[in-house]
Amino acid sequence: MNKCILISILVLVSASCTTNNKAPSSEGTPYNAKVDSLMNLMTLQEKIGQTVMYSGGWSVTGPTVSSNNKKFIKEGAVGAMLNVYSVKGTRELQRLAVEETRLGIPLLFGYDVIHGFKTIFPINLGLAASWDLEDIEKGSRIAAEEASAEGIHWTFAPMVDIARDPRWGRISEGAGEDVYLGSEIAKAYVKGFQGDDLSKHNTILACAKHFVGYGAAQAGRDYHTVNMGYDELRNVYLPPFKAAVDVGVETFMTAFNEVNGVPATGNKFIFRDVLRDEWGFKGFVVTDYTAINELVEHGFAEDEKHATELAIKAGIDQDMMSSANRLYLEALVNEGKVDVKLIDDACRRILLAKYKLGLFEDPYRYCDEQREKEMVYKPEFLEAARQTAAMCSVLLKNEDKALPLDKNETIALIGPLARDKENILGNWAAAGDRKGRAISVYQGIQEYLSDSKIVFAKGCNIEGEDQSGFDQAIKAARKADKVVMVMGEDYDMSGEAASRTNIKLPGRQTDLIKAIRKAVPNKAIILVLMNGRPLDLSEEDTLADAILETWFPGTSGGYGVADVLFGAYNPSGKLPVTFPRTLGQIPIYYNMKNTGRPIPPDDPKEDYKSNYIDVPNTPLYPFGHGLSYTTFEYGNLELSGETIGMSDTLTASVTVTNTGDYDGHEVVQLYIHDKVGSITRPVKELKGFKKIFLEKGQSKRVSFELSPKDLEFYNNEAFVIEPGAFEIAIKGTSDFDFEHSFNLE
Ligand code: NOJ
Repeated sequence: MNKCILISILVLVSASCTTNNKAPSSEGTPYNAKVDSLMNLMTLQEKIGQTVMYSGGWSVTGPTVSSNNKKFIKEGAVGAMLNVYSVKGTRELQRLAVEETRLGIPLLFGYDVIHGFKTIFPINLGLAASWDLEDIEKGSRIAAEEASAEGIHWTFAPMVDIARDPRWGRISEGAGEDVYLGSEIAKAYVKGFQGDDLSKHNTILACAKHFVGYGAAQAGRDYHTVNMGYDELRNVYLPPFKAAVDVGVETFMTAFNEVNGVPATGNKFIFRDVLRDEWGFKGFVVTDYTAINELVEHGFAEDEKHATELAIKAGIDQDMMSSANRLYLEALVNEGKVDVKLIDDACRRILLAKYKLGLFEDPYRYCDEQREKEMVYKPEFLEAARQTAAMCSVLLKNEDKALPLDKNETIALIGPLARDKENILGNWAAAGDRKGRAISVYQGIQEYLSDSKIVFAKGCNIEGEDQSGFDQAIKAARKADKVVMVMGEDYDMSGEAASRTNIKLPGRQTDLIKAIRKAVPNKAIILVLMNGRPLDLSEEDTLADAILETWFPGTSGGYGVADVLFGAYNPSGKLPVTFPRTLGQIPIYYNMKNTGRPIPPDDPKEDYKSNYIDVPNTPLYPFGHGLSYTTFEYGNLELSGETIGMSDTLTASVTVTNTGDYDGHEVVQLYIHDKVGSITRPVKELKGFKKIFLEKGQSKRVSFELSPKDLEFYNNEAFVIEPGAFEIAIKGTSDFDFEHSFNLE
């Protein structure tokens, strides 16, 4: 029987309670009066102009802007530009806006600063693997320092889409599969980009994207249909966006996909009802690239004019690249189809952001040549990127202490990514230099070994059938004590429009590992991976002695990875996403539902249970998994009480002991299981984590506080906190059985 619902509040009421957190964005700023007086001077066309964004496009030699765009800027028909950076490029366009338009309203410059601007950090999925909120915030602060020094005011980041399908190429851009981890990381990014004062010249607007559901594209195919229950939408996909609002994110971007039949860019429910009315978001909403026009292809709008009407009515403020607002909004107002108030609202929000950035005081405040020279690729930025690369690496497997490497050993360094300086930056590498600035794994290893101890052979390419390099790779392996194979995907096999139906290592790479295994059956093979998604590593898992997942580790990646390989940094990364055994298990994630026919633990293959006849239900590597060179033991879990009331807080504590031979970090994870609910609850839910450092032999007591609010969920009617029994555990992975419980009364 279901528990009684103690707190059952209508969604709107509940939301108005929960939006009392930190005031989001602009309300009460000193700029409202200024915006109003400026708007009094503006014509309808000039207001519409603020809602228009165009791309500068850029070439190898620097940003170029079409003469058409320049003409629009001079007419006051453009409010923002994307894909223009550098002091020279932005200053030139800003000058047109400020000096050659009637009102001199400055432009906003937006850019995809996703995991670094010039100093590139590991891809975002990798950053999530650090479970290190401080470090993520610091990395996005560095990205903002560099980007702002090159004229950028606004990043189209963070992407906070939950993603549970490794076929989807954009899984690389987010924080993985979990709502709690994803929400915490969303906050860290926003804080890092926006800092504590937007008027400083080194802070930039952040943008929570893509609102909403983009990560749930059917079959992992980019831009594909999204259809899900409102419970899943509210309990899984919306919370990271809410978290971004709670820390004051200034902008939102629409998703390309539809949500339950209504394309996001025309979706009133998500933008007006949820984002504005429930959450109180006061910043502005930009579309994704040409997303207004795409309402026509979706079959939601008759033509582009109709699409323009639907988008503004849904609550969209700025049009990225559709030209729709520029071409149709005025006519829609004149025809009485669009209330001019909607345009006023959109314009007001955009102007407010410009005021907050200080652009009306000094439109060139981000255009300082000296700062531009000094602020990029600073040694401390490169060093931070090195440390982050090490922190993001996840040791998936380490048999017989294959790692760490010993400086006295000879290493065969094999594989298409061993000397790579291009793919290592990953997708969306902003202004990162793919022409050699990055540090390869080979170079990183050179810091630890003399050249005479490194025997290099590429072996094969990332893709393609060529096996002509196998023999040389085998020779290299024979000469060495251990074999390190650096393999993975091309950087553009993940990211936008890069979905795969096959998530194995591409090309002949697995065959090369097999050939080496056969040639040197008794030598340790260490597989170092660079990839933008969870891969199917079931074969590699049987072939390699150790596997180190480094994602695409960025500009200083080679150093960071070598630091881990040689034990200068003891790996501490934990998977933010499940690695399946096989593609057929997808979607597979740790906080699934139990079903009415769960598998019996002692007979997982039992007939008529929820299982497969060919593979186990379990993943190859679970969420939260990641090994260290040391070992950690968890013991003595204590709860502050067996029962807590609705106004109490539960304290759960555990002793973690470093029982191995190395000092190291451990990510201590708190999970609960709500045993019975008015709608079914996941078998496990992450509710907290702490990253701790323990010297060898050291123990620490780690405590978490859990309040009833942490147990809240949406049950398809309301947000509720339901009394009853909960299981609880504190572990170093999501792969465990619960042994403790408490009651909520
Ligand atoms: C399309 C992508 O979906 C979005 O994430 C990005 O910010 C824009 N293009 C602008 O580049």
